[in-house]
Amino acid sequence: MRATEPAMTAKVTVINHPLVQHKLTLIRQADTSTAKFRQLLKEVGMLLAYEVTRELPLKYEEIQTPLAPMLAPMLAPDKKMVIVSIMRAGMGLLDGILELMPSARVGHIGLYRDPSTLVAIEYYFKLPHDVAQRDILVVDPMLATGNSAVAAVDRIKEFSPMSIKFLCLLAAPEGIEHFHEQHPDVPIFTAAIDEHLDEQGYILPGLGDAGDRLYGTK
Ligand code: URA
Repeated sequence: MRATEPAMTAKVTVINHPLVQHKLTLIRQADTSTAKFRQLLKEVGMLLAYEVTRELPLKYEEIQTPLAPMLAPMLAPDKKMVIVSIMRAGMGLLDGILELMPSARVGHIGLYRDPSTLVAIEYYFKLPHDVAQRDILVVDPMLATGNSAVAAVDRIKEFSPMSIKFLCLLAAPEGIEHFHEQHPDVPIFTAAIDEHLDEQGYILPGLGDAGDRLYGTK
């Protein structure tokens, strides 16, 4: 199904693997250092990507082991993904995903939140040229108001990719609702759904500002 066609259901998958949940708890803790935060986000990015890609199609190829020929499964070459990172915090998840899928193509969308309106403002946009033949995984650790995620997917849909998925670490109920109002065809994968947003648009209990914690800018 093309990303621009309406979907039947808006799906949210909570990836509750114990390793993901343990690492998420460490990431949340206020006294986790920048270095540790970065390392954990990378590790959790790898684990989340493992779950998100579990339905990638395989094709069977004749190979030779040291002992015998066999038909063995390989990833279908025409189903390569594009990972689109919403900067800047998306970069933390992206690093782990690329460890797992080193040949994936990468796109970048630079968005910042206007602090008074919380509206997403675009400052950078670059996608691989052949997006129309590819499946897209948009990554941002935080689905808070949903404004950045909606803006990113709006832009990506201009290029008519085969499909789009959205991957985050934490989601707020308000963000999920807003995102699926605008993009009911895009499934969300997250490690947890937290309680609510505060008046500044931060997820509670959350983990603070993911970009600041990733880059030590606060
Ligand atoms: N962005 C963040 O980095 N943290 C939040 O809690 C919400 C948005």
